[in-house]
Amino acid sequence: MLRHFLQFKDLSRDELLYLFDRATLIKSRFKQYQPYHPLADRTLAMIFEKSSTRTRLSFEAGMHQLGGSAIYLNTRDTQLGRGEPVEDAGEVISRMVDIVMIRTFEQEIIERFAAHSRVPVINGLTNEYHPCQILADIFTFIEHRGPIQGKTVAWVGDSNNMCNTWLQAAEVLDFNVHVSTPPGYEVEPERANLFGTDHFESFVDPMDACRDADLVTTDVWTSMGWEAENDERLKDFADWQVDAEMMAVAKPGAVFMHCLPAHRGEEVTAEVIDGAQSVVWDEAENRLHVQKALMEFLLLGKVDA
Ligand code: CP
Ligand code: NVA
Repeated sequence: MLRHFLQFKDLSRDELLYLFDRATLIKSRFKQYQPYHPLADRTLAMIFEKSSTRTRLSFEAGMHQLGGSAIYLNTRDTQLGRGEPVEDAGEVISRMVDIVMIRTFEQEIIERFAAHSRVPVINGLTNEYHPCQILADIFTFIEHRGPIQGKTVAWVGDSNNMCNTWLQAAEVLDFNVHVSTPPGYEVEPERANLFGTDHFESFVDPMDACRDADLVTTDVWTSMGWEAENDERLKDFADWQVDAEMMAVAKPGAVFMHCLPAHRGEEVTAEVIDGAQSVVWDEAENRLHVQKALMEFLLLGKVDA
């Protein structure tokens, strides 16, 4: 059966736990320089309508390491930028490659592409969600602190694609998210596509959101596509900077995460992101390993090799 990964809840809890185990194995083989080429002769098309460092690198290197190849396409150099319907692009691109990753604006665009695709489609970030990043974040948490079930994640800042995806993940994997956003930037449960509010709680004061958290995380104040609001956001978010005081009210063993790129002095202080509780470099590296497990799963199903 054709499977896509367009939002976090497209995978069940069992499938996610399988993926995390698989990522552990794939990572360990990679660290031991053991070749592993289950996707020999397979091709990944990567379509970027927004900038990227980590997503491009991790998908391209990951596909290569699995024995396949990757092709980079962007809006500017393709007919997508000249108005070719996304449905037509889905039909054509999916006849020539085995799997597609897309980074774009509205979630609706990737859904329309997937509806016309013969091959699996992966969301490499939309305005609404960033599911590959949350796969890497949860995998990183498990590596450092064990199972995430029952734990508390504090989200400080914008209710953006990362926040929405954390909220979805909390429902699938049964943990809690404490959210604090400035007034006017609150979570929209419908946009986050949540079943209910059992797994998240909103806090006016970011210090209250961080209290007793197992993981404190944030993201840029201005996401790609919202650049026109940057000056206003710099003022509105000034009190939502993750700093040492916020980390001090979290659990003593709490970790700090940021999907990167980061702006030290805005959403996080240098002291926190470069400090002992920060796991941001492992988090970035783990994009590679979890996405290799994801591509393997979408193309080959569960394997025990
Ligand atoms: N975190 C992340 O997705 O980074 P890039 O924008 O560099 O791909
Ligand atoms: N929320 C950010 C994440 C970047 C990886 C954005 O959408 O720009």
